[in-house]
Amino acid sequence: MPKPKVYSTHELFPEARKILETTCEVEYWGKPERPAREDVLRRIKEKDGLVCLLTEKVNEELLRNAPKLKIAANVAVGFDNIDVDACTKRNVVATNTPGVLDETTADFAWALMMAVARRLAEGEALARSGNWKGWNLDQLCGTDIWGKTLGIIGFGRIGRAMARRASGFQMKVIYTDAQRAPEDAEKAVNAEFRDMNSLLAESDFISVHVPLTPDTRGMIDGPKFHRMKAGAFLINTARGPVVDEAALVAALEGKKIAGAALDVYENEPFIHPGLKRPNVVLAPHLASASVETRTKMAVMAAQNVVAFFDGRLPKNMLNPAVMKRA
Ligand code: GLV
Repeated sequence: MPKPKVYSTHELFPEARKILETTCEVEYWGKPERPAREDVLRRIKEKDGLVCLLTEKVNEELLRNAPKLKIAANVAVGFDNIDVDACTKRNVVATNTPGVLDETTADFAWALMMAVARRLAEGEALARSGNWKGWNLDQLCGTDIWGKTLGIIGFGRIGRAMARRASGFQMKVIYTDAQRAPEDAEKAVNAEFRDMNSLLAESDFISVHVPLTPDTRGMIDGPKFHRMKAGAFLINTARGPVVDEAALVAALEGKKIAGAALDVYENEPFIHPGLKRPNVVLAPHLASASVETRTKMAVMAAQNVVAFFDGRLPKNMLNPAVMKRA
């Protein structure tokens, strides 16, 4: 039997390649820059499977171009790039990589929070500039993190990992979500539930951990910034469009909040020029970017594809209904 043909929009780590290539004949996009959309559409035509990054839209257009496609494996936990309903209609299984990046992403959200509070990026620039004249009493004084209130929007796996880290900093942790979590989950990370408005009013640091869905798009908007403390900092490692970027810029300009630390943006890789200010720390979507975690993500995507073609259920299906129908 010929091996199923798979297109991968990025070269994968050797551990993932080994898994994928045992079962599949794989064509990789081998260049560091993203493949052009036309190129993906052309290469996907005869393929049975796709491994893709979150930068690739798996939508009606792609699916139309891939009549043989049976599985699309996202190397990411967020899957707002995938039109799951369109996949289901065309009997294409869609998968993601949950669970392996929670701690790494929470680490990075903390790194951003500490960087913006303690003005690390400004200090680093000064240290490298050659203009540093030495220690001074009021030089680049930031804001304490320890003992403050951390507000978590989205109390899923990553939000909870974020909360867990706060105990060493003697922080009070509050969270909000569409539904209140069970008491034992709250107790495990010492977090208290609040409605959104109370969380916005009480938090010194607000960290966003919700997926991008029609309900969360633009969720942090102008009125929400008005409810925040003037000294509050916003941290976003979730998805850019959850925050109304123009409203964030207005809040920063109007000093409605003290600063922001961002890993994600509304129209990546474009970054709103109004965000390029000293009290905003900017990262280029790196939260899960440790070698260990990115390797696990690629391996997980490869395992999902291989499971499917070996006739087993992929572990991380977004539309299990497709397999039930088969
Ligand atoms: C990264 O942003 C992911 O969703 O895995």
